[in-house]
Amino acid sequence: MKSFDFKNAAPTEFDANDELGVFRNRFHFPKTVNGDEGIYLTGNSLGLQPKTVRAYIEQELKDWETLGVEGHLHAKNPWLPYHELLTGQMARIVGAQPVETVVMNSLTTNLHLLMVSFYRPSDSRYKIVIEKGAFPSDQYAVESQLKFHGYRSEPGAVATGFRTLVNKNPVALAPCSDRITDPLIELSPREGESTLRTDDILETIDREGDSIALILLGGVNYYTGQAFDMKAITAAGHKAGAIVGFDLAHAAGNIELRMHDWSVDFAAWCSYKYLNAGPGAVGGVFVHERHANNLDLPRFAGWWGHDKETRFQMGPNFKPIPGAEGWQLSNPPILQMAALRASLEIFEEAGMKNLTEKSRKLTGYLEFLLGEIDDNRISVITPSGPNQRGCQLSIRVKGANKTLYQQISTHGVIADWREPDVIRVAPVPLYNSFADVYGFSEILKECLR
Ligand SMILES: Cc1ncc(COP(=O)(O)O)c(C=O)c1O
Repeated sequence: MKSFDFKNAAPTEFDANDELGVFRNRFHFPKTVNGDEGIYLTGNSLGLQPKTVRAYIEQELKDWETLGVEGHLHAKNPWLPYHELLTGQMARIVGAQPVETVVMNSLTTNLHLLMVSFYRPSDSRYKIVIEKGAFPSDQYAVESQLKFHGYRSEPGAVATGFRTLVNKNPVALAPCSDRITDPLIELSPREGESTLRTDDILETIDREGDSIALILLGGVNYYTGQAFDMKAITAAGHKAGAIVGFDLAHAAGNIELRMHDWSVDFAAWCSYKYLNAGPGAVGGVFVHERHANNLDLPRFAGWWGHDKETRFQMGPNFKPIPGAEGWQLSNPPILQMAALRASLEIFEEAGMKNLTEKSRKLTGYLEFLLGEIDDNRISVITPSGPNQRGCQLSIRVKGANKTLYQQISTHGVIADWREPDVIRVAPVPLYNSFADVYGFSEILKECLR
């Protein structure tokens, strides 16, 4: 990792030498209550709107207006294969082959669809490994999958760490002798630590090996900003005989990913955060090539996943398209996809490698400035190694409440607050500047006073 001399340079100097600085002007920045452009540091929650989005969506509105149903075949970008326009670019962002990638649905829906195929518990191998405190939707999705397969929580059982296994018959409660330890393995940081140690994750996988059916972790944890060693976790999971999937909500468009090379089984992500495709935007899915032609995998099917050659023969027998496309259910939401196309074009131009390089410098600068604040209430819980994080830093402010966050907001910072005492900030290399980062640290310093 290149080290930067943050001490002796002004933010304006970094910005003047930033080759990616030109991309800032491609985005709309929201105005604060004072009518100024705020310091937007919440790309980890909702990415900014690329200025080209409007033209991309207007093109589809125009084609719909003038062509009606004919747009499926005769729109400037025909709607029937529209999702294919996104595949190559999306695949490059997550380090996948095109056959392994598809853009469809939203994140939690996709996690469920993938678990239907890849969480296949047996009597002896049935556990799911997740992070304790994973994003709530992931927890709910996993718990409901467990229930769907007959593993049920008894009232009060969670508190004791035991659940009832009702695997054979989802309706009847199993006799007490069937009590087993929780089918959910939740990975927690060590006492007094905020993030997980890779060695501890690998040790758990090794120890619980034979009983693990699925490991499903975030690529980057939404709360702490910790990026996991997906390559090592996947290798350990496979050695144990488990399937390994990742929720890339906070990783896609944030860090460099190699889903194919790391041999990950499946992944899903959203595109409203770092991928700037707008609120509720359509999500993405990765299914490793080795599963592409396994047509026996159980799946919830829909007509858009059916063989393209015979889809419109409207026959009764489902024949999945090989690869990730075979998991599609419905015809694609064109207006949403148009917004995503506008954003992916920008990513293509900027390049993930260049973005990662700038990101390391920008976040490194933020970390440096926070370290210069002489106030022992603040600490950064995100790991400091650049391979263990993306652009987000989660700042713990001991004893603070939401008032501090409200104060920085009044000064024009758009960040976010997570209970009980964390401010998350994410300087995004596509549109944030070194001046933004400097401005934020000055405002934080002032508000802490
Ligand atoms: C890590 C993670 N998982 C799941 C979700 C839920 O996403 P969706 O509402 O698109 O299903 C989010 C949303 O922010 C998230 O950050």
